[in-house]
Amino acid sequence: MTRVLLHGPGVLGPSLPGIIAELARAGTQVDVLLAVGENAGAGAAHRSSPHLQAPDPHAPHLDDLASRGLCRLVTDADPLRYDEVRRLTLNQPGEEAPHGPAGEAKRPGRVTLVGGGPGDPGLLTVAGLGAIERADVIVCDRLAPLDALAHARADATIIHVGKIPRGAFTPQEEINRLLVEHALSGRDVVRFKGGDNFVFGRGGEEVIACREAGLSVDVVPGVTSAIAVPALAGIPVTHRTSSQGFTVVSGHVAPGDPRSDLDWAALARTRTTLVVLMGVAHLRAIASALVDGGLAASTPAATIADGAMPSERRVVATLATLPDAVADAGLGAPAITVIGDVVAALDGTRLHASSDDTGAV
Ligand SMILES: C[S@@+](CC[C@H](N)C(=O)[O-])C[C@H]1O[C@@H](n2cnc3c(N)ncnc32)[C@H](O)[C@@H]1O
Repeated sequence: MTRVLLHGPGVLGPSLPGIIAELARAGTQVDVLLAVGENAGAGAAHRSSPHLQAPDPHAPHLDDLASRGLCRLVTDADPLRYDEVRRLTLNQPGEEAPHGPAGEAKRPGRVTLVGGGPGDPGLLTVAGLGAIERADVIVCDRLAPLDALAHARADATIIHVGKIPRGAFTPQEEINRLLVEHALSGRDVVRFKGGDNFVFGRGGEEVIACREAGLSVDVVPGVTSAIAVPALAGIPVTHRTSSQGFTVVSGHVAPGDPRSDLDWAALARTRTTLVVLMGVAHLRAIASALVDGGLAASTPAATIADGAMPSERRVVATLATLPDAVADAGLGAPAITVIGDVVAALDGTRLHASSDDTGAV
């Protein structure tokens, strides 16, 4: 396996997630040397700060990238043990409005919501890629296909926002403010998210915030993980003999929680495939509620974590056994659970992701 060491001040810069995602997808072992400052380099490690935090709240979250298996964080490194040692510099984004000659009154830019698909850059649409290529500013979530940022203009400003489960997050109001502020300054702003921006993506709130500021908004729909992640795992969400529909729900609050709007007993009776997003933390309670609601404990069920990414893992079981199987396998967010006979329809045969020409999926 090829081993690459990344070091230099750019390891705290906005380009890092894209670089790491691209290397990891190619099967490269990526080590990131936690060292900052112009004089730092391989062999000059920052030994006292193994969990160095980026000072900029929009800087990439190194611990998050490492916890997803995309890279390893090291505080010391022998450059001779690597196939490539790459020094990253900080590419300070240009802050000038790109439109109009100097002195001309700024005209508002525009905001485009771009759905990035489930994580594989090949599942970003042609229209989405075009928007990325043109953008002056890209406001990017952690689950967007970060490799696609390689197609951004060299002078584009990339701002990483988003929410690490039970970790750091940028409040939605701050994201709205960033979109509006940059677009009002005349910039072409892309809001880049995983999946589709209108499927549990808060895209509607962002459209409203932009419209209230007098900005026009375009939408490039994305391939939602709710359908694509099961599909890549060999699970069609509908199948002629098994299911005449599918129901997509959020499991981010547990059944019985006063904040939950969902009627889990009714969901148990739909006879549709159930697709649960953001439910891995409450999987045991969700499975119990569905069994209590009348869904057979023997119903096939699967959980797929990091779908369409190099770190994808999945567990296939029954509704009753899935929570233990997921816990034993150590699966965590982002994960999707599919419940229904469709799980067994194609024997769970892994289907090929579009853009991975190595065939190693
Ligand atoms: C806030 S929702 C956003 C969904 C997104 N807008 C979409 O259309 O796919 C995030 C949840 O989507 C699911 N998800 C997104 N990408 C995923 C992936 N690559 N693999 C597994 N689950 C994923 C997980 O349930 C995750 O917790």
